[in-house]
Amino acid sequence: MTSPFPHDGPRLADDAKTTKRLELNHRRNRAQDHTAKLDAAAAAFDYAACKDVPWNPDDLALLWGTPLWAEASAAQRVVLNQLYWVAYYAQIVSAEIATIFYNQTSAAGLYQLEGFRLVCDTLDLESAQERAHIAAFKRVGEAVEHALFGERVFTYPMRGPFAETMIFADAGPFRAWWKRLQLRTFGLLSSGNAFIACQYFTVRGLRTLNGKIAQGRLAAFAQDLPDAPLPARISDYHFQDESYHFNSSMLISQDVLRSLRPPTRFEALVANMALRGCQRDHRRFSAAINGIFWHDPALYPKVYRVLRAPCFGLDHAGALDMLRRCFCEDSEGLRKSAETHRTAVESYKRYLEGLPHVTRENREMSIIGASSVERVLAENRRGFARFARTAGRLRDVPAPRPGAGPAAEMAAAATEGAPALAGGAAGS
Ligand SMILES: [Fe+2]
Ligand SMILES: [Fe+2]
Repeated sequence: MTSPFPHDGPRLADDAKTTKRLELNHRRNRAQDHTAKLDAAAAAFDYAACKDVPWNPDDLALLWGTPLWAEASAAQRVVLNQLYWVAYYAQIVSAEIATIFYNQTSAAGLYQLEGFRLVCDTLDLESAQERAHIAAFKRVGEAVEHALFGERVFTYPMRGPFAETMIFADAGPFRAWWKRLQLRTFGLLSSGNAFIACQYFTVRGLRTLNGKIAQGRLAAFAQDLPDAPLPARISDYHFQDESYHFNSSMLISQDVLRSLRPPTRFEALVANMALRGCQRDHRRFSAAINGIFWHDPALYPKVYRVLRAPCFGLDHAGALDMLRRCFCEDSEGLRKSAETHRTAVESYKRYLEGLPHVTRENREMSIIGASSVERVLAENRRGFARFARTAGRLRDVPAPRPGAGPAAEMAAAATEGAPALAGGAAGS
């Protein structure tokens, strides 16, 4: 509804083409909203019913293409496949908690403009969908970790939007504090400034582009299987919701932006700082997980814990040696992750083309583009030397009770045919 009064502020209705595209995207997302299906899948999830089958394509497994993968038994490979799902979506939960907050602050920043209700309604629906996504990922991830480890490994208790978004990053205490301050400041600025609000969607679009690479394949896995396990179905439902979120990121950060006046120097600075932060967050790739740009040394205690669990049954020395071989030596897994990283960098560059306020450093993705297999290996080796010095305190892994629960069954199944990975007794 347009106002009968003349005014000199930006009005979304003046851009009929963008309004139409936004309406269509919102209407379609509402029509095929997967919230009810995701809630039903999460409620029906039973780990015992799908613990023997993979949930993802073969190469989307934790530590695929590393010595651990090469030496794992068939049952252990299934565990690594499912742990990829758990770890991958643990990262998505963190990103989506932040998304809910910034959808709201950005909607507040945009709602002050004439005719922006449609954008805000779109964001409200997306935030509600994110809450369903988070609930489904948490339900499955926590059930798997409870059964396999009896404790959290990749999952974490519910958290707020100012926590480090990358759950395995290299931020020391000062940088972590500085990032928290930046996140809070961005929330405040975006809630009162339409241009900065739109900038959130530039960053969100980049993050979703990254997500689309692996998530498209995770979703296709379920689409190809008539009786796909529930976690694979969840991947598919999530991906379908997210494809609309990606459209709205594009529309808001590129088309809606044209309805606003050009940015001031301060606004452009904030926009570029946000992009720079995104480059820094994504400047590495991981030997353990293809498609998420984690800092491997931050993962060592987690992978160590996995190796000491009954399903892999390595002793302290065996687990350390396996970590070293997987993270400090070149592998097919690391090369594949590097390939995904390169694909992501190229798609980020294309996404930013045509945005006049973006600096050269961000347009050319020069921070993220400087990464290489050699750099990752050098960092991983330095990190391993530090980890090995202090790993003795992790030696006492809780021993499983004989014959108790899925973890023990898995141990029995997994050790058959995989003597190299069961050389020591767990808990020794
Ligand atoms: Fe989501
Ligand atoms: Fe989303």
